Amino acid sequence: MDTAYNVLAPGPVNLHPRVREALALPMIHHRTPEFDKILNRVLSRLKSVFATQQPVFILSATGSGGMEALLVNTMQAGDKVLAIDSGKFGERWCEMVKVFGGIPLQHKVPWGQAVKVNDIEALLEKQKNIRIVLCQSCETSTGVVHPIEKLGALISKYPDTLFLVDGITALGAFPLPMDEWHIDGLVGGSQKAFMLPTGLTLFSFSQKAWQKIEQNPTPRFYFDVRKELSANKNGETFFSSNVTLIRALDVVLDLIEENGIQFLYREIHNRAQFTRTFAQRLGFTLYAEAPSDSLTALVVPSGIDGQKIRARLEEKFKITIMGGQDQAKGKIIRIGHMGYISWTQMKDLILKLGDILHEMNPSFCSSEQMLQLAQQMDAKIATL
Ligand SMILES: Cc1ncc(COP(=O)(O)O)c(C=O)c1O
Repeated sequence: MDTAYNVLAPGPVNLHPRVREALALPMIHHRTPEFDKILNRVLSRLKSVFATQQPVFILSATGSGGMEALLVNTMQAGDKVLAIDSGKFGERWCEMVKVFGGIPLQHKVPWGQAVKVNDIEALLEKQKNIRIVLCQSCETSTGVVHPIEKLGALISKYPDTLFLVDGITALGAFPLPMDEWHIDGLVGGSQKAFMLPTGLTLFSFSQKAWQKIEQNPTPRFYFDVRKELSANKNGETFFSSNVTLIRALDVVLDLIEENGIQFLYREIHNRAQFTRTFAQRLGFTLYAEAPSDSLTALVVPSGIDGQKIRARLEEKFKITIMGGQDQAKGKIIRIGHMGYISWTQMKDLILKLGDILHEMNPSFCSSEQMLQLAQQMDAKIATL
């Protein structure tokens, strides 16, 4: 296999060499004192990434599994659920609500826009008995970041309403303090800012959510968090532990701790700023009105097909980015800022994007322009 791939998608991401080493270690059994020690260390350190006093759980599943876990533990059939739908992942959660017998009140937000807190306030007032509000922190299909802090403050005034947040492309990429922002259920995914392969979902519930979880009659088995809580109290997981990924997560948490999580947030923020600045100089414009730091969604110049940029970048340079989905297909490209990325790779991406634009339309990105841009990027990188 060619190992030269540079994955700049909004997950999965490039892996740190120390993570790759950890992934290559020989297997140990999950019911051993050696693994118990690792598990306990990981579970307790995850609390600081979630910024919560509550237990954090790890299950072998993709992020969508974690979204389902938040729902089946807190929602019961017949519950009114206000689902903020601003893209593909908002839509997915809304679908799940229907599958489990909830009554979704789908609040559609135009793609590329952030939800307006006033609109949610008005809906909560008008529609009595909303039991759950669902929102993405970052909607990955559009690159938008939603005002989670303000939504949390609002929803916390409703004692019978829980606020569940999909932080799959947010947790670890920028601050999302669960307790301080009154988030009642928060989920992350391993292949995003946790800088691991796909396969783990991580989630936690507030005390307010636990009151509901205990008596919730919704049938659940694999995702029944009560089982996991009692197993974790005994220092183990209920089902077989994902030893390899949990061991690698331990290394990621070491890496985060070495410089502090603020350093990681700053790195990701700098990559986002760098991409926004220099991609606009290439002729792209920003798609998201409130752009998230974890990824940048760029509108391609007119007459250019975003899907072709993506395909050509991979074919010619082995750089992976994502295109748009559904209504944004062909119109945007999406570049991820999470994972192990050097400044050389960041600069290279901009240069290669320029190369491809020029290939598609020679009036774009002349060699003189690109030379100038390379110097500007070097100057910027020197300040970081
Ligand atoms: C915001 C968001 N939610 C949910 C998901 C689904 O996660 P998974 O594909 O790991 O199930 C993704 C994946 O990209 C995502 O970005």
